[in-house]
Amino acid sequence: MSNSIGVGLIGFGTVGSGVVELLQDAPSSMRRRKHIDFSLQRIAVRDLKKSRGTSIDPALLTADAEEVVADPTVQLVVELTGADGAFDWVSEALRQGKDVVTANKAMLAERGEELFELALANGADLMFEASVAAGIPIIRSLRNGLVANRVESLYGILNGTTNYILSRMSRGEGDYADILKDAQDKGYAESDPTMDVSGMDAAQKLAILCRIAFHSTGTGSDVFCEGIERIEKSDIEYARELGYVIKLLAIAKQQNGRVEARVHSAMVPVDSLLANIHDEFNAIQVQGSAVGPQVFSGRGAGQMPTASAVVADMVELLERRVAGAGTAIGDMVLGEEAVAITSVEAVEMRYFLRALVSDQPGVLERIARILSEEKISIASVLQKERDLHGGSVPLVIVTHEASEAAMQRALAQISTLDTVQGAVKLIRMEDL
Ligand code: HSE
Repeated sequence: MSNSIGVGLIGFGTVGSGVVELLQDAPSSMRRRKHIDFSLQRIAVRDLKKSRGTSIDPALLTADAEEVVADPTVQLVVELTGADGAFDWVSEALRQGKDVVTANKAMLAERGEELFELALANGADLMFEASVAAGIPIIRSLRNGLVANRVESLYGILNGTTNYILSRMSRGEGDYADILKDAQDKGYAESDPTMDVSGMDAAQKLAILCRIAFHSTGTGSDVFCEGIERIEKSDIEYARELGYVIKLLAIAKQQNGRVEARVHSAMVPVDSLLANIHDEFNAIQVQGSAVGPQVFSGRGAGQMPTASAVVADMVELLERRVAGAGTAIGDMVLGEEAVAITSVEAVEMRYFLRALVSDQPGVLERIARILSEEKISIASVLQKERDLHGGSVPLVIVTHEASEAAMQRALAQISTLDTVQGAVKLIRMEDL
């Protein structure tokens, strides 16, 4: 095979133009790899009339993504739209035996199985480094650098928007709603931030990591997911008092042939590495059987960090094709030992509970009895007289490890007590 590969780009927005910029101005690390020669053949854009500067030949542009896939001079399709049609374009490219690079996490998290099977059946590869934590080479590290390890656990801060909001709340810069609004006004947060604040964006990324790390077949929807919408300033203050910081954590563990995967707010020790990942930064802490703990950190979104990951996949694909190597990904992510994601009910963890309770004898005893009947052991109790709210006081209980199912049963009972006002707040704790 010649050292040149025809590239078709679907999507020429922020990331697409970043990819073209990196290809046109390749750093010496790329130029010194003698096999690298990409030839941009076709680019599908949403608006043909939009000005693109002088660096792109207008003849390459089309408004029809299917034309890019069908173009016989295109051997590698780079899909960067996140559009509804993406699944069809990517499937068709794979069916034609063309390699695909994509940053489309929703597509991979929910329908990855179909696409990887299609890739394998047609001798093509589907690469997706940019779909998780953008420029952090976590997928490549799991596939290559850590290949000699059994991955025991992954703890990630995989969403920059929520980490930015929680970091600012921790610095006392406002409440959840104010900071979210400010982030939207400044363009840091999406105008519809639901996927981010609900944890779904992180859940989709975690499902993709679980596929690589554990051969898990689970989708983003199989990952237990709770967002940060209910975190209040007082939770952050209590966490600080207990020596913790609140983060939106994506957690996956492999134990006894089971894979657990969950995304939720969690208290992490203030001196842990993940507690010190601030603002829009992402991080992933991997526990490997041979290497022990490793932490990868960096920008998990943005034009050039995402483009960096896309180009790294393109380079790997080209080098594999030039070397006459077969496909790399299908065999890695599919296979007999594939396991489903287990329900969160059986997972054991520690909990922080906060309730507003009547300041009268026996209240603590009744709550403690409910916990004890569910075999949940109390680690510490905090109640402050100074916080008296008209006859009620905030009561904080930290538990030892208990199953989620037992905790939910206990919570349901505690909430029915007439001495407990409103909902009981629950925040999970992870001693990293
Ligand atoms: N919206 C995501 C974040 C980036 O805030 O991290 C894209 O996945």
